[in-house]
Amino acid sequence: MASYANQILTVIFILFSISSSSVYSGQIQINLSNDFSNQNLRVNCKSSTCEDLGIKVMGPGTNFTWAADINVPGKIEYWLCVLTSIPGNLCGLYVIFNSDRDSTWCGQECLWSVREDGIYLDLPSDGGYSKLFLWRYITGCP
Ligand SMILES: *[C@@H]1O[C@H](CO)[C@@H](O)[C@H](O)[C@H]1NC(C)=O
Ligand SMILES: *[C@@H]1O[C@H](CO)[C@@H](O)[C@H](O)[C@H]1NC(C)=O
Repeated sequence: MASYANQILTVIFILFSISSSSVYSGQIQINLSNDFSNQNLRVNCKSSTCEDLGIKVMGPGTNFTWAADINVPGKIEYWLCVLTSIPGNLCGLYVIFNSDRDSTWCGQECLWSVREDGIYLDLPSDGGYSKLFLWRYITGCP
């Protein structure tokens, strides 16, 4: 009886593995939105594959988008970004993209919203924007 239950669990586990590995593979858009009420946002992102987007300064209400690789077999890609408010009272270093984490989190696009009280990601499975990160420095950046 116990081994029958184990077999059923094994089958369920395999079905889950198949369905979660059949998600979209290729490129995914990362959209970062400056949702500060009146500060500029400085963005400096680099990937694990040594791509460097340089330094972008985004006005409030503007977006910055780029593409990342997702679910490429044998390849994990991540993007690290230093985010700084201008004037610089808020800042931190964040994993804005991780192909392992975000294949199930993001859906077709990773939509980030950068706000005074933290950094939010749109999680369709949670019904909208969720605060994922707090600012590392809140009284002045190093
Ligand atoms: C995300 O960025 C892409 C590329 O710029 C754009 O086509 C798409 O509309 C953006 N999505 C949202 C929700 O703003
Ligand atoms: C910026 O992206 C957000 C979603 O992340 C979207 O709601 C908004 O319309 C976009 N704004 C512009 C100016 O494209």
